Amino acid sequence: MQVIILPSARDVALYAADCVVDVIDARTNPVLGLATGSTPIALYKELVVRYQSKQVSFRHTTSFNLDEYIGIADSHEQSYRTFMNRHLFDAIDIIATNTHVPLAESQDAGTLKKSAQDYEASIQQAGGIDLQILGIGLNGHIGFNEPTSSFASRTRIKTLSESTVIANKRFFKDGEFQPHLALTMGIGTILDSNAVLLMATGKAKAEAVKAMIEGPLSAMCPASALQLHEAATIVLDEEAASLLALKEYYQWCEQKRQQLHEGNVS
Ligand code: GLP
Repeated sequence: MQVIILPSARDVALYAADCVVDVIDARTNPVLGLATGSTPIALYKELVVRYQSKQVSFRHTTSFNLDEYIGIADSHEQSYRTFMNRHLFDAIDIIATNTHVPLAESQDAGTLKKSAQDYEASIQQAGGIDLQILGIGLNGHIGFNEPTSSFASRTRIKTLSESTVIANKRFFKDGEFQPHLALTMGIGTILDSNAVLLMATGKAKAEAVKAMIEGPLSAMCPASALQLHEAATIVLDEEAASLLALKEYYQWCEQKRQQLHEGNVS
């Protein structure tokens, strides 16, 4: 894992935007894995700014989102499709049919299962994901892979944990139906990406971040599976990094990496 600790949440967003633009510049038909949640909003804002100032075009980019709530329409105010359209897709030149969010409106198990299989097949057809953006849940989930999810899991139906339902309650109106199920890429699906970039900001994420980076490899912390990925970058602000035992070591590594990049091995 490459652990990068930056002064602020804004720096985390700028760093992530640089990584996305680098992938788009390097590939003829880039494939991005995208995430929802509050954390990547600043990244998407920055990508829109770079698109508007003609620093990047998404014309040839394909995207796959991690997850979607089961049982609400794409057009629902709280669907992840609506989130992505609002925060990114509608503001850039990506071709709408090249943006993929799991189709999860159905309440029929067979239809949802088929939708999950089709999602996996579409990722394969696109040539796999070049860079997967991730956030992390308070309980260490990635996508909607809750604690005890198999490290080998693929896109499937997942029941949300109580902690996740409570954390996401703020987005739903009082008395409004709040889904307890989601269709999510599996941990195995995420690990198949060529590279992953997990963003975490704020003190509330510090425990989960510590468990992911320094805890044992454990299904109790789904994000710890990223320890198995050969190209996983974890980019943190100071608050999210505050509980790391080896914080100074990661900063030292980053300094050495920069020096090496400049041809200095001292
Ligand atoms: C949701 C999403 C995750 C996201 C998590 C954390 O549960 N399914 O992909 O990482 O929320 O969101 P936030 O960034 O708002 O803390």
